[in-house]
Amino acid sequence: MAKKLIIANWKMNPESVKEADALYVNSVKIASMFPGVSVVVAPPLVFMRGLAKGPDNFSLAGQDAFWAGIGSYTGEVSATMLASVGAKYVILGHSERRALGESDEAIAQKLLFSLKAGLIPILCVGEKVRDAEGAYLKELGQQLATSLAKVPKKIAGKVVVAYEPVWAIGKNATRAAEPHDVLEMSIYIRRILMNLVGAEAAKAITLVYGGSVDAKNAEGFLSTGGVAGLLVGRDSLNQKSFEKIVAAAAH
Ligand code: PGA
Repeated sequence: MAKKLIIANWKMNPESVKEADALYVNSVKIASMFPGVSVVVAPPLVFMRGLAKGPDNFSLAGQDAFWAGIGSYTGEVSATMLASVGAKYVILGHSERRALGESDEAIAQKLLFSLKAGLIPILCVGEKVRDAEGAYLKELGQQLATSLAKVPKKIAGKVVVAYEPVWAIGKNATRAAEPHDVLEMSIYIRRILMNLVGAEAAKAITLVYGGSVDAKNAEGFLSTGGVAGLLVGRDSLNQKSFEKIVAAAAH
């Protein structure tokens, strides 16, 4: 059985390199305690270099990457650069980036380039709100279809898809999703993926859930949510909670 995948999205935290180093040391320690779980840490880029060492089940992720390798793109960082400082994964299409104006088309370009650069993209998708008519299902289908449009079927299985309903993310979350919500959506997403990339690649794609994951609810998502991992924001900065989340994935 493949290892469960626990991704720590530090977002724009912590404030100093000293704090980042301490957080990193703890995250590596947690990964060493649970070798049966894949632990991925996505720090702010300025802290990434120098963090690349850890046990085999520990890796680094970028929180975004541009769609070209080098060039005149002030402020951007490419997937090739991330790979060269030791990142294995890259988060793409996070709702906080979409809120800043990122489109599905841009995400599609970034995703293809990241795969070519040898990174594993963690594609975030999720509806803003749940409506009774089911428009949210269409929204999700559209995000997947456009973001994966350029990916050849033979490499599509490498992608990780993170279901992250926007209403369940961050401090303003209305509530955490329930495992049964996540199970329903993982079945739906898997079906859409089959239509988009074929049965074989769709089966190979790892599905994870993100949005208000904490020490208490982690186990439920993993046991009954139909997902093979979790994307953790706030509680990845709290080492006690993060250790419990990784421990839940080890069970
Ligand atoms: P949260 O963030 O765990 O703080 O809700 C999750 C995410 O944005 O990936």
